[in-house]
Amino acid sequence: MRNDVLFEAKNSVCTFGHGKKLVRAVDDVSFDIKDGEIVSLVGGSGCGKSVLAKMMLGLHHPNTGEFTYKGAPITDYAVHWREVQAVFQDPFSCFNQFFTIRSQLKAAFGIYREKPSNSEMEERVDQALLAVNVKPSELEGKYPFELSGGQMQRMLLARIFVLKPKVLIADEPTSMVDACVRANILDYLMKLKEELSMTIIFITHDIGLAYYVSDRLFIMHKGKIVEQGAPDDVTLRPKSEHTIQLLEDIPEIHKEWIKR
Ligand SMILES: Nc1ncnc2c1ncn2[C@@H]1O[C@H](COP(=O)(O)OP(=O)(O)O)[C@@H](O)[C@H]1O
Ligand SMILES: [Mg+2]
Repeated sequence: MRNDVLFEAKNSVCTFGHGKKLVRAVDDVSFDIKDGEIVSLVGGSGCGKSVLAKMMLGLHHPNTGEFTYKGAPITDYAVHWREVQAVFQDPFSCFNQFFTIRSQLKAAFGIYREKPSNSEMEERVDQALLAVNVKPSELEGKYPFELSGGQMQRMLLARIFVLKPKVLIADEPTSMVDACVRANILDYLMKLKEELSMTIIFITHDIGLAYYVSDRLFIMHKGKIVEQGAPDDVTLRPKSEHTIQLLEDIPEIHKEWIKR
């Protein structure tokens, strides 16, 4: 194994249920993801993107095949999460309604064995807020219910700027927000890659967005990766009928990105 490989899957299978109700959510996938890459998992609803993301977080384990991070199976997720963090579709589910946003951004340091000093934590929260274009003073004393969906998405990203994980898994982070906020979120993801040289797994059903942000695309269908490769190869010379279908489904406003 090359030592810059972070995730490696070899014929990994993850199923739920038994007998007639058996679901092969992730079905015989093989890939590697290298340090510093932005890889997009692209596919329609129910194709297994989130289950694969949860395997990367150590929340699901393969029934058969291998699934490793830095060459070892993910056994202790408390340790794993110091390096691998996620943002999900619904930002409200990730914050407790009864605590201020700022206190929760600060509480994110709880995943470390040794917390920085209080003043360093305050400083890093301020920097994280500024990184997502929020004035720290504007957020003072605010609770999650006082913010819009788009603002909450930015708070999730601020949490990532606070923690500076090695790997970020972004599971459809733009699906609940309007086009303007979506463009912002993509810009922040690029900033995370550039400023923190983060590895990013970007999950979307929109191959146009994936093309725009990624170094590599994995096209998923019914639990399988049906095609993987560089964005230009996959979008301009698609080999799988499922890729062609996804290309036809791209919203008009994103189509122009691909022609550039
Ligand atoms: N915890 C679970 N128990 C049973 N089935 C699940 C579970 N999580 C996901 N599935 C099933 O696995 C398949 C893939 O789901 P998912 O990865 O969430 O799809 P998506 O690509 O939309 O994120 C679906 O058929 C879903 O119903
Ligand atoms: Mg999903």
